[in-house]
Amino acid sequence: MNRPSVLVARRVFPGVVERLRAHFDVQTNDDDVPWGREELIRRLQGRDGVFVTTGEPIDRVLLAACPQLRAVCSMAVGYNNIDVAACTEAGVLVSNAPDVLTETTADFGFALMMAAARRITESERFLRRGEWRQWSADFFVGADLHGTTLGILGMGRIGQAIARRGALGFGMPVLYHNRSRLAPEREAPLSARWVGLDELLAQADHLVIVVPYSAASHHLIGAPELARMKPTATLTNIARGGVVDDAALAAALRDGRLAAAGLDVFEGEPSVHPDLLGVPNVVLTPHIASASGPTRLAMAHLAADNLIAALTGQPLPTGLNP
Ligand code: DGY
Repeated sequence: MNRPSVLVARRVFPGVVERLRAHFDVQTNDDDVPWGREELIRRLQGRDGVFVTTGEPIDRVLLAACPQLRAVCSMAVGYNNIDVAACTEAGVLVSNAPDVLTETTADFGFALMMAAARRITESERFLRRGEWRQWSADFFVGADLHGTTLGILGMGRIGQAIARRGALGFGMPVLYHNRSRLAPEREAPLSARWVGLDELLAQADHLVIVVPYSAASHHLIGAPELARMKPTATLTNIARGGVVDDAALAAALRDGRLAAAGLDVFEGEPSVHPDLLGVPNVVLTPHIASASGPTRLAMAHLAADNLIAALTGQPLPTGLNP
């Protein structure tokens, strides 16, 4: 009997590919240059499964062109690149990689927020330029985190992990906005209180965005929302770029209507809006919030677990559709 055939759409860890090779014929993308939709379709011809990351577009066009496909397994928790409803209609199983990256991503979100609030990269650039002459009382003063209000937009697993860091580590009262409220017994240890979006924007000293990206969250934070925030506040986005209108954010930062921002994700990444590159009070990182060694490995293994389960008739550990 023919072994199932799978495509690994980006370069992943050798041990993960070896595990897949024990079950399947595997084609890998060793150059790690992302394949666009056309190339992906070409390479997926006749294949049963695909291992994807954050960017490979799995949509109706691709599904129609790849009728043999039975499983799409992503090593990311965010799956806005995958049309899950279309996959379900086409009988294609889909999985993502939740949980294994929660704490690592929350660590990074907190680091980015702190770097923005305390102007760490801005002052480092100053030092590297050789401009540091003396200590001064009003030199690179930033905002405190301890005792200030932490606002969280999107209170899923990562949002809750950030709330825990803020509440327990930094004594920050936590306000959050989410479609659904946490049960009181989950809110209590986080000292977290659900508020409407307007109140969240108005009250947060530090706003962290962890809401999934979808049509409903596209530019959820644009010029009108930024105008509701305190001019002393910071905004950190570790969700997806499209949640924030980057041009509006750059304008708010440039005009002093917002103190600072930390961004790990960008609309249209790896391109970054040129206005953001031109403002000093934003910390920019290339979508690395989950990038610790153990976590990236765990994410890739979880995607492999799902792919193996999907193509051997087992229940998927973290499936997204029936
Ligand atoms: C995810 O898993 O969705 C992250 O954005 C990738 O690190």
